[in-house]
Amino acid sequence: MRDFVITNGRPFTKLEQQMIWRKPQSHQTSQEEIRIAGEIKDNWLDTELKISNILLEGDAGSGKT
Ligand SMILES: Nc1ncnc2c1ncn2[C@@H]1O[C@H](COP(=O)(O)OP(=O)(O)OP(=O)(O)O)[C@@H](O)[C@H]1O
Ligand SMILES: [Mg+2]
Repeated sequence: MRDFVITNGRPFTKLEQQMIWRKPQSHQTSQEEIRIAGEIKDNWLDTELKISNILLEGDAGSGKT
């Protein structure tokens, strides 16, 4: 899978580190997830297309959180 990191070289405070999501071993990556991550990375340096907020819509238990 391609690398979706957008924060290379950026130092994080202790508080920020605590806020970073850790992917559990049981996590199954979906095509949607890969597509969205790619869109975010590809447009990160474009001031007009940059995606900094995402609204997730889906049934209870579908994996939004
Ligand atoms: N990508 C995934 N890989 C493996 N398990 C998953 C994945 N997404 C969700 N699950 C499982 O499904 C459960 C429910 O997912 P989650 O809590 O993200 O649902 P939700 O869409 O946020 O629901 P709600 O609307 O009720 O908050 C998780 O606790 C986990 O066990
Ligand atoms: Mg939820």
